Amino acid sequence: MARRSGSKTPKKPITWKALKRIARMYVYIRPFQGEFLLGMLFLLLSSGSNLAFPAFLGDLVDAAQNDAARINPIALTLGGLLLAQAVFSFGRIVFFERVAQRALAALRQAMYGHLIDLPLPFFHQRRVGELTSRLQSDIGVLQETFTSTLAEFIRQIVVITGGIALLTYTSWKLTAFMLAILPVVILLAVVFGGRIRKYSKQVQDASADSNTVVEESLSAIATVKAYTNEDRERSRYKESTLHVARLAITGGILRGAFASFLILGLFGALVAVVWKGTSLIATGELAAGQLFSFVIYSGFIGGSIGGMADVYARLQKAVGATEALLDMLDEAIEESSEAVPTTLPDPLPGTPAVSFQEVDFAYPSRPDVPVLQGFSLDIDPGMQVALVGPSGAGKTTVVQLLLRFHEAAEGSLAFYGHPSTSLAKKAWRAQTAWVPQDVILFGHSIRENIAYGRPDASDADIQQAAKEANAWEFIQRFPDGMDTQIGERGVQLSGGQRQRIAIARAVLRDPQILLLDEATSSLDAESEGLVQEALQRLMQGRTSLVIAHRLSTVRTADRIAFLDGGRVVEFGTHAELMTLADGKYRHFVDQQMR
Ligand SMILES: Nc1ncnc2c1ncn2[C@@H]1O[C@H](COP(=O)(O)OP(=O)(O)O)[C@@H](O)[C@H]1O
Ligand SMILES: [Mg+2]
Repeated sequence: MARRSGSKTPKKPITWKALKRIARMYVYIRPFQGEFLLGMLFLLLSSGSNLAFPAFLGDLVDAAQNDAARINPIALTLGGLLLAQAVFSFGRIVFFERVAQRALAALRQAMYGHLIDLPLPFFHQRRVGELTSRLQSDIGVLQETFTSTLAEFIRQIVVITGGIALLTYTSWKLTAFMLAILPVVILLAVVFGGRIRKYSKQVQDASADSNTVVEESLSAIATVKAYTNEDRERSRYKESTLHVARLAITGGILRGAFASFLILGLFGALVAVVWKGTSLIATGELAAGQLFSFVIYSGFIGGSIGGMADVYARLQKAVGATEALLDMLDEAIEESSEAVPTTLPDPLPGTPAVSFQEVDFAYPSRPDVPVLQGFSLDIDPGMQVALVGPSGAGKTTVVQLLLRFHEAAEGSLAFYGHPSTSLAKKAWRAQTAWVPQDVILFGHSIRENIAYGRPDASDADIQQAAKEANAWEFIQRFPDGMDTQIGERGVQLSGGQRQRIAIARAVLRDPQILLLDEATSSLDAESEGLVQEALQRLMQGRTSLVIAHRLSTVRTADRIAFLDGGRVVEFGTHAELMTLADGKYRHFVDQQMR
């Protein structure tokens, strides 16, 4: 199967309702309103002066026949008109560009500012690549609309209405004749052209599919040969290439017909107008120069009518893009960035730092699959709790709830005795440091990645954090040290190095609550030893929730909670849980010892 990008902006009908919704976007233009109007004025002036051209050209032809003295003045006027049009067009483009670029920059900022405030489930339901390319292409469509489509649309309207008015003034008979045939021919041509485009798209798709056959079979050539399917692949390819050929031949016939149609229709219409015009000249109803300018005007009008279809399609796309952007702006944010207290209320005495009570949770994208059911867990201040359980049991989910990325459907979550929902998410998260299961770093320097935990940290603090995370030793060996650039998402570092940088980041943050999600899962024994040591230091005297597979991490925790079936089934110290004869934790330990 050929994969095509899903980020194309859909067309939307231009309805009154859609326009009313889009009008909201005007806030981004309002600050540049004056320049926008100036651009509009220049646009009207340049379209108008464009329209005056054929009239003067016609005058010129008439002057040549009747009054040679007028030739030079008219030519001079034409020159002046050219100059004016040049100035107007320049002004139009510059002003529209100035408005569009600044308005779009403001829109981009608003979009991103909103996006980054959206809750995590929003991002789970969409792929980040799709989001960014949608943003890119939707804003690209708006950019095109402002810098060219809108101007073209208005110019076309000016040319069609103004042109027809001028022609009617010159000779209503000839105008009526022209209007009876030209628009029909042009509309037919547009429809015909659209069909051809659709057809050539089909040919393109078919040949992409055909290439996929080659790609697939050649990249799995060993399998093809091992299963002796060469003949089958050959006939598959034969089938698809013949399909492409048949489609393309039909397309060729259509194109040929289109060319004949254009010759007969368009040039036929032109011949007809000239024929009608010359018979009017014969009866003295029209001057030769008038016919000359008439033909040029007809060309202008025809071109504008023909271009309308494309412009209309582009405007529909602009409506689609704007609506998609508005949809995103209308997504509810997590919590308002303003009006959020940055500090937490004082802990209620004698309450656990974190307390889950009978929490039920299912991911919004899979509401029928409960992940946590009756999950209860208390973590007292300063205590280290290890969360253990089979893969897929919901350990990471517990951490995500603790960070309040999601809200539990049932049950309650409290921090220091305060219901979590009464606290600002940002204020709570500011007290935590999280070392996630798969560490993803930013494509900056090592220094910046560590400082992400506390952007105002001094160099000495950063270095100290790196030392405590056992990261200093490898950082120092890079020629650029702390300034080493680590490539997109940190790909230039090994898994263990990435994890130690993430730990250094957590160290630097100096949090009240530490959340470690399998921070040593993918390491070899030696780097694990180093990371382990760093973690022990970090957890010292800090409220911590540690998810781990390795016995060495788990055993030293103050309490161990075994998660199974969505809830904690065993809770106690290592020694306590080991005494349970049929205990799940004991089973887990036994398996590791084997
Ligand atoms: N974003 C998500 N959307 C839907 N289901 C998810 C999501 N993340 C995890 N799950 C599901 O929730 C269950 C628990 O996952 P997780 O908490 O990551 O398990 P663990 O960390 O214990 O291995 C799994 O069945 C997993 O498929
Ligand atoms: Mg996990």
